Amino acid sequence: MNKANSIVGLQWGDEGKGKIVDLLAQKYDIIARAQGGHNAGHTLVVEGKKYALHLAPSGILNKAAINIIGNGVVVSAEVLIKEIAQFDSLKNRLYISENAHLILPFHSYIDQAKERLRGKNAIGTTGRGIGPAYSHKAQRIGFRMGELRNVKKLTYDIGAYFETYAPIFEVYDIKLPEIEDITRDINFYSKNLLPFIANTTNMIREGLNAGKKILCEGAQGTLLDIDHGTYPYVTSSSTVSAGCCTGLGLSPRDLGEVIGISKAYTTRVGNGPFATELFDENAAHMAEVGHEFGTTTGRARRCGWLDAVALKYACELNGVSKIALMKLDVLSGLRIIKMATSYEVNGQNMQNMPFDLAEATAVYQSFTGWEYLYGAKKMTELPKEVLHYIQAIEDFTKTKVGIISTGPDRDDTIIL
Ligand code: IMP
Repeated sequence: MNKANSIVGLQWGDEGKGKIVDLLAQKYDIIARAQGGHNAGHTLVVEGKKYALHLAPSGILNKAAINIIGNGVVVSAEVLIKEIAQFDSLKNRLYISENAHLILPFHSYIDQAKERLRGKNAIGTTGRGIGPAYSHKAQRIGFRMGELRNVKKLTYDIGAYFETYAPIFEVYDIKLPEIEDITRDINFYSKNLLPFIANTTNMIREGLNAGKKILCEGAQGTLLDIDHGTYPYVTSSSTVSAGCCTGLGLSPRDLGEVIGISKAYTTRVGNGPFATELFDENAAHMAEVGHEFGTTTGRARRCGWLDAVALKYACELNGVSKIALMKLDVLSGLRIIKMATSYEVNGQNMQNMPFDLAEATAVYQSFTGWEYLYGAKKMTELPKEVLHYIQAIEDFTKTKVGIISTGPDRDDTIIL
């Protein structure tokens, strides 16, 4: 039976999924995104031209592939229209699920107002309206892409929504748009996006039945999952591989290989617990050598050692078939490298994720560092200290490392 493979982040996002999807996308007929929105993002450079992608799957750069934005994604029409404009024509190469929910400008105003109200307890969201769009979906008051087919009705419904909830917007100090503005925007979205809106659940099913190779491209990471992450400092979607089922209309039996992406260390943007976070020269080294700044918001990423306890948890939750270990080159030059292999929580040693990661103190295993491995393309080019570090990751997580990234270019990769 033909199955869909997936790529998921095993940490707090920004693991380098873009590079692996770009590398593998060449081998797939259909690349699909199942969750998240334009809170995700990466820049791809192809033939000297830079493309900023937030919503469109990375397969967009492979002219032979079909790209799908699934029903589980929340779609900012404005951002997607700009993204589409970077390309000559995506007709017949990009499809958006008619069931995907729309992010309208007011969703990001709500996001930002809520963060303001939370003060020092702010989640540190990207402010892109992701949480409000997903909560409106769950409250059954959201608007779907398929509704862009009837501009008049959608405009009316949005106007009616604003009228009903006007007092809430007053509390948030958000100025509501006039009906003419809504009409203009919805017309613009409809005109630009209608050619791409489709029943993508059917398309994927037909693709699977026809033996097409399908890759689901995850966004964010396991520790940001709404159910399994470090709640409430998470995003609002299912970032684990199971999210591919609900977010694309696949059944659990349709899932094949799961490639889990992890950095050789850990980073996090936004607020929330991070057991292996560092504030010393090692963190400064990771931030500088690894260029650890967010592609979506430009925020500096917090850096720390690899948390193998969290990594094992992520491998289990996702059913990871193999780990892609990214940015191994960044650790070069550090004398000692550490990896958390248990936590101490209220005086107890544990190897599971605690209810509140903020209460955990990481317990480390130390490794001898290595001088240089930048751009290595074969295992035989890796120093023995690196092999020892990789072996320890495999032993602890009980998962094979199948891809090793040793530099930013496509070629700086070892595929085992
Ligand atoms: P939201 O998804 O904008 O609601 O943000 C919730 C949390 O997820 C914040 O800590 C964000 O920084 C984080 N986050 C959202 N998207 C990404 C991503 O693509 N990479 C890394 N962190 C993300």
